Amino acid sequence: MQSKIQQAGTAIIEGTEFPVYKGTHGNEVIDIRNLTKVTGKFTFDPGFTSTASCESQITFIDGDEGMLLYRGYPIEQLAEQADFIETAYLLLEGELPTREECAKFRNDITYHTMVHEHFLKFFDGFRRDAHPMAIMCGAVGALSAFYHDSTDIHDPEARKIAVHRMIAKMPTIAAMAYKYTIGQPFVYPRNDLHYTENFMHMCFSVPAEDYEVNKTLASALDKIFILHMDHEQNASTSTVRLAGSSGANPFACIAAGIACLWGPAHGGANEAALNMLQEIGTVDRIPEYIAKAKDKSDPFRLMGFGHRVYKNYDPRAKVMQKASAEVLEAVGVKDPLLDVAKELEKIALEDEYFVEKKLYPNIDFYSGITLRALGFPRSMFTPLFALARTVGWIAQWREMLEDPNQKIGRPRQLYTGAAKRDFVPMDQR
Ligand code: SDX
Repeated sequence: MQSKIQQAGTAIIEGTEFPVYKGTHGNEVIDIRNLTKVTGKFTFDPGFTSTASCESQITFIDGDEGMLLYRGYPIEQLAEQADFIETAYLLLEGELPTREECAKFRNDITYHTMVHEHFLKFFDGFRRDAHPMAIMCGAVGALSAFYHDSTDIHDPEARKIAVHRMIAKMPTIAAMAYKYTIGQPFVYPRNDLHYTENFMHMCFSVPAEDYEVNKTLASALDKIFILHMDHEQNASTSTVRLAGSSGANPFACIAAGIACLWGPAHGGANEAALNMLQEIGTVDRIPEYIAKAKDKSDPFRLMGFGHRVYKNYDPRAKVMQKASAEVLEAVGVKDPLLDVAKELEKIALEDEYFVEKKLYPNIDFYSGITLRALGFPRSMFTPLFALARTVGWIAQWREMLEDPNQKIGRPRQLYTGAAKRDFVPMDQR
């Protein structure tokens, strides 16, 4: 990555000038790398609410405007006009591919979709009722056992192959995790199917009969994957970057990202949001849950609502709401939970608490309804998020390695534990 940092001025901290930088869009930053050397102090920012951990050129979010750009292109335009492979190429290479570039990239990914036959044996160690995310964490970590010695992360060509392998094998592994938990045989990928169609084929076809991928549903899922691909330095992407900064192999880094994404405050919210809608059940019970969400003594939160960055409507949620209606119409289902979701959104957005705290629906609010209509069980919602986010994770992992300012991540702390003291022998305690 070629650094494009521009100095915008300076800021005075404890009498010392520190450089202020600006980027293409977004907040200016104060370069405090010399702060401790000059002032002897650390900054204190639990949750990194005011901290830029890196320079990046991949994705930009304007939380106040509700804007999301992949390499400068608005997410709404990509979701409507591009497909998964085209968008993955854009995130990785920085430009939309020509027809030839896209065809070659599609081919590169297609011919890495199979996993080593010995890899199948890892699944036997899991209980049949294991959550697919538990299987994904273990299986992707195990993938590194097959490539650890062949992945020289300092060689650009080896990094490129690792990127292709990760993007290509994630659908195969996610489908295997699903098949394993429902007791059906694994289905091998097919090279004549496009990425998302191939994934649906590996999930829903069975040896006993032919399976025809529904193009409308595959196109809707492709759009959903695009929405989930990348999102700046969110918790799981920061986890991948931190793991990668130690030189760990990319498969182990992605396994760390999967583990982080699983949390209900992050990628696990799509499953939690549908659970919540199911628990609410009917429109008349919405006020009871709005009150619970506002009650500080109650840990309940509206799942699929709120965001660290968006203080406006998550643009992905708008596309997702439209996709949910399209999918429900395509499958001929009228899901009463969609009505509950729309009414809950309407009531929340008029409620002073949510207005004052700028809490809007996020990408997870409508995704559960859509994914369920596509035929996926709730337990597969976060694995689908992980499948799509693998593109962002691996693009950010590679950008981190190519960043001239990159070094191992090692935050400091504010220590408030016991003061220095001498050991007390057991018989004197
Ligand atoms: C994703 O980072 C990313 O980019 C993530 C993501 C991505 O693509 O990678 O966008 C994907 O993770 C989306 C978010 C999915 N999570 C949920 O939907 C879970 C519910 N949301 C909350 O847990 C919460 O909104 C977070 C975790 C998403 C954001 O938390 P923050 O920014 O740390 O905000 P906060 O918890 O400090 O909340 C600020 C205030 C608090 O009230 P006060 O202490 O100021 O009085 O808003 C309240 C919170 O109690 N609040 C909510 C709420 N979310 C925040 N109150 C009720 N319901 C909610 N959902």
